[in-house]
Amino acid sequence: MTLLTEQENKELDKIKEKCLHCQKCPLSKTRTNIVFSGGIPNHKMMLIGEAPGFYEDQKGEPFVGKAGQLLDKILASVGFSRNEHLYICNTLKCRPPENRDPLPEEKEACKEYLEAQINILKPRIILLCGRVAVQSMLDTKQGIIKIRGKWFEGPNFSKMMPIYHPSYLLRNDSREKGSPKWQMWQDIQEIRRVYDLMD
Ligand code: URA
Repeated sequence: MTLLTEQENKELDKIKEKCLHCQKCPLSKTRTNIVFSGGIPNHKMMLIGEAPGFYEDQKGEPFVGKAGQLLDKILASVGFSRNEHLYICNTLKCRPPENRDPLPEEKEACKEYLEAQINILKPRIILLCGRVAVQSMLDTKQGIIKIRGKWFEGPNFSKMMPIYHPSYLLRNDSREKGSPKWQMWQDIQEIRRVYDLMD
């Protein structure tokens, strides 16, 4: 796993600074904190989620609520941890009220920040966590159920895989063969396999 150079970290800090003062959409009026990123800035793996929820907005960190706890368990099942193996960010940096879906204009306003994060990190692997992340990165009308677990070519020759959002898995608790949780288990093992193949 390669960490960022001092220069790249500085570039990332500049983007974060811009986000802290961002007023490009009305979510800036209702946010408590911006949620810029979590995990470790590195060139190997990045996970893109949807948007901050209540706890993320309070703490200024991604995936710290129930969905985040499940995400940590999924990662740990193949020996990944957020502080050692991946950078985590969201399609939106501010919380939509009542956790509603991001609006197109909010995604559009926030897009430059996500693009900058991707272009500075140039991760080899990008995990698209849930429908909103998929829609912001892949030009497809196919639903997450159809395309989860498949590799797509991403920016800077990266490999991108859509995976289920942990909130969806919290609502679908079965572990039976073929269930969403079972599929997630297949997907995370495939991600680990490809991660280990890359230097
Ligand atoms: N759900 C997301 O998609 N992102 C978070 O940061 C928290 C919950």
